[in-house]
Amino acid sequence: MTAKPAFGHILNVADARRAAARRLPRGLFEYIDRGSEDEVAIAANRRQLDAIRLAPKVLVDVSRPSTAVEILGQRLSLPLVVAPTAVAGLVWHDGEIALAKAAAQAGIPFCVSTQSITAIERIAAESGARLWFQLYVWQNRQRMLGLLDRARAAGAETLVLTVDTAVGPNREYNTRNGFGIPLKASWRAGIDVALHPRWAIGVMLRALATGGVPTYAHYPEEFRTKLGRVTLSDEVALAADVTWEDVKLLRRHWRGKLVLKGILRVDDALAAASHGCDAIVVSNHGARNLDCAIGPTEVLPAIADEVGDRIEILADGGVRRGADIARFLALGARGVLVGRAPLFGLAIGGADGASHILDMLSVELRRTMAFLGAPDIASAARARLA
Ligand code: FNR
Repeated sequence: MTAKPAFGHILNVADARRAAARRLPRGLFEYIDRGSEDEVAIAANRRQLDAIRLAPKVLVDVSRPSTAVEILGQRLSLPLVVAPTAVAGLVWHDGEIALAKAAAQAGIPFCVSTQSITAIERIAAESGARLWFQLYVWQNRQRMLGLLDRARAAGAETLVLTVDTAVGPNREYNTRNGFGIPLKASWRAGIDVALHPRWAIGVMLRALATGGVPTYAHYPEEFRTKLGRVTLSDEVALAADVTWEDVKLLRRHWRGKLVLKGILRVDDALAAASHGCDAIVVSNHGARNLDCAIGPTEVLPAIADEVGDRIEILADGGVRRGADIARFLALGARGVLVGRAPLFGLAIGGADGASHILDMLSVELRRTMAFLGAPDIASAARARLA
């Protein structure tokens, strides 16, 4: 990998995170970067990953490494998927398109969020990426099915139902720093934006000049609230009554692959399999929701043991190095989602910045695999835990 000159000083995800912290208004940066309540889970996710040590196998020919893998019937260049992240379009102008382009360049899918600022039709038309679509169940199920038809027509192959967000999380730092959705005008937010002129001009002014105040692009026209105005209609608010009946409904309605994201228990993983789901994402939502949630790496081995032969197991939370991907693979994941890492790259350089992050993760993964004596992903998955 030869870094583009603009990113020569960004040697790892932590460098990109620091640069993103300087570029973005503080409220937006904290919304991306931080956890919830006392931020115990986010520290635990990191600690638990760090504690996973792998035993290298020596004297293996690793001169022709391959990171290719098949996930949900798709051949990918890396065992990675760019995770759905709401409001990526506030991080960079047309941020979702930029992330999708970076994913396409890396040979991996991009998962579009229900709460995307850019509509899936435009992301599909302008990125050339393989698209997955992430769904938050709306209180009005008919409207939700309409959204799915739209996603399918735009070319989404895989539906990811997020099941870990029955209610909005408690992020007190965002109450303090004034960032929230809908965006609210306040002195604090105004000063924050003024102190970050590159973002103010490159993202906010550009949005105002082209399409007006950013909105949730997938919300029905009549409810589509400017992020700068009042709250969304109840009809398209997050539903707190989502149950396995909804999974049945989606399984009947959606003809592509169906994935449940946010599973942390063996019994729920078994239920996902028996409801005909094709995969699950073992995830605590990047430690953004329940602060006393168990960590994905704690439960992944048991879940992979119990259901790994019936459905595909994906996982996420805390990936900042290629070694973290190897750790998840060794615990039983077939692939890993990355949320914040590409967002940090997006913040500092759009599609090129996000590509730089994915390239670095790829190089680090290859290096880790070579040290482990794993020439391919199947052997990386067999790496011994110390
Ligand atoms: C998210 N995540 C998320 N998940 C989801 O299912 N729908 C969504 O709209 C969002 N939005 C979102 C916004 C932001 C700013 C972040 C950082 C994350 C969670 C995401 O898909 C993924 O589970 C985590 O980000 C994984 O952890 P890492 O890689 O960020 O540590």
